Amino acid sequence: MKTMRRTHLLLLIIPLLISTSRTLNCHDDDYEHQSHSSNLKIFHVFSPCSPYRPSRPPLSWENALLRIQDEDKARLLYLSSLAVAGKSVVPIASGRQIIQTPTYIVRANVGPPPQPMLVALDIGNDVSWLPCAGCVGCSSSVTFDSSMSTSFRSVDCQAPQCRQAPNPSCNGGGACEFNMTYGGSAINANLSQDTVTLSKDPIPNYTFGCIGKAPGTSLPPQGLLGFGRGPLSLMSQTQDLYKATFSYCLPNFRSENFSGSLRLGPVGQPVRIKTTPLLKNPKRSSLYYVNLVGIRVGSKVLDIPASAFAFDPVTGAGTVFDSGTVFTRLVEPAYVAVRNEFRRRNKNSNVTSLGGFDTCYSGPIVAPTITFMFAGMNVTLPQDNFLIRSTAGSTTCLAMAAAPNNVNSVLNVIASMQQQNHRVLVDGSNNRLGVARELCT
Ligand SMILES: *[C@@H]1O[C@H](CO)[C@@H](O)[C@H](O)[C@H]1NC(C)=O
Ligand SMILES: *[C@@H]1O[C@H](CO)[C@@H](O)[C@H](O)[C@H]1NC(C)=O
Ligand SMILES: *[C@@H]1O[C@H](CO)[C@@H](O)[C@H](O)[C@H]1NC(C)=O
Ligand SMILES: *[C@@H]1O[C@H](CO)[C@@H](O)[C@H](O)[C@H]1NC(C)=O
Ligand SMILES: *[C@@H]1O[C@H](CO)[C@@H](O)[C@H](O)[C@H]1NC(C)=O
Repeated sequence: MKTMRRTHLLLLIIPLLISTSRTLNCHDDDYEHQSHSSNLKIFHVFSPCSPYRPSRPPLSWENALLRIQDEDKARLLYLSSLAVAGKSVVPIASGRQIIQTPTYIVRANVGPPPQPMLVALDIGNDVSWLPCAGCVGCSSSVTFDSSMSTSFRSVDCQAPQCRQAPNPSCNGGGACEFNMTYGGSAINANLSQDTVTLSKDPIPNYTFGCIGKAPGTSLPPQGLLGFGRGPLSLMSQTQDLYKATFSYCLPNFRSENFSGSLRLGPVGQPVRIKTTPLLKNPKRSSLYYVNLVGIRVGSKVLDIPASAFAFDPVTGAGTVFDSGTVFTRLVEPAYVAVRNEFRRRNKNSNVTSLGGFDTCYSGPIVAPTITFMFAGMNVTLPQDNFLIRSTAGSTTCLAMAAAPNNVNSVLNVIASMQQQNHRVLVDGSNNRLGVARELCT
């Protein structure tokens, strides 16, 4: 019943067109057999290969957008909450259930014998977790059964990892438990270790949360891999293997055959790629900050006060790349400048709004490119990365919005729609982030 309800909620997020032709072979082609083995597929949650894909025709385009925008709000609150040192306590915007967008998923095997899980990829989060067998409140019927694994163990509360976990405590048996909030969801988990295999690389003794309780909540159903920058993240735990380096290409959620790739480690990464320095903000140390210095619409550099982009270690302000937010959010003066220039170029058409999008048109529009100017790297986005089009009607919206006007949310977030069909490289050993156009469909 619970699973049913989840499926229905997911149905509401369905972006646009999910084609009926499902010709993909989803099971025997998860890894690219190339010169290196640490390449794995990334699926959009609505990919033909995803168990979360809708089994019924989607609701209207408008509803889908409204739903995604709601989820983005929860995500922004979550990112903001990371500023509260050591805790992630999140004010919940509304009383209803919010699914924290598990927009992109990858396959992972846990144990031997391998238990396959489809986990969300989250670059804004450190600690990973799986719903464990017997979990009270978890929505997934697929859970990780630790009693079946020969390499599973729980982490002792004296272990250094326990102190790195959010809100750790010691249970009666001397094992480490932790609590955290993700989106609007509370998680109570045992800190555990097991072998996690991504692609072909086994990661022994990988530390993650085995969720025992997730009361009344909704989370990525089969768990999450944290690719953030903190000590418990996957990249920190695999420092020797992957050198804090990974890249991904997110497929467009409109394409019928959407799978992108996640490439772990320095081998096989693009060498000719524009990069910008990665900044570490102590206020939100999990997040990948970069220095956004300006925005260009077409060839016009917009007049935006520098304060809109300022990196501030005290308040946590700045610009981050995130995989869990769908639409880019810019602080108000920056968004207004982009929007006004966009509207100026379409002044002969009537502006309408749709959900949280305030710059929509019916009928053809003049669409310039949009360039994010980072320190040392300009990224020019083609239309597919910032226009969202109705397939049924003819409405087109500028798919970005102003960041909520709340003191805690002083973040510009470069979100997944704006990253689609680009390779985003996080080169942790050289402290830089790269972006290159790549069609991963
Ligand atoms: C999916 O897209 C890739 C890349 O364009 C293509 O090579 C492949 O044949 C497609 N697969 C199917 C089943 O359409
Ligand atoms: C963690 O959550 C559980 C269940 O919700 C609660 O009983 C426990 O007191 C919490 N522990 C801490 C340290 O907050
Ligand atoms: C994993 O942990 C076990 C138990 O502490 C230890 O014996 C083993 O050497 C560890 N393996 C690796 C690869 O660190
Ligand atoms: C942690 O593990 C212990 C022992 O297996 C169990 O009694 C407890 O309920 C677990 N706690 C959580 C939060 O899963
Ligand atoms: C980015 O574009 C701006 C404005 O067009 C230009 O002045 C600047 O040199 C470019 N930066 C890089 C790194 O190419």
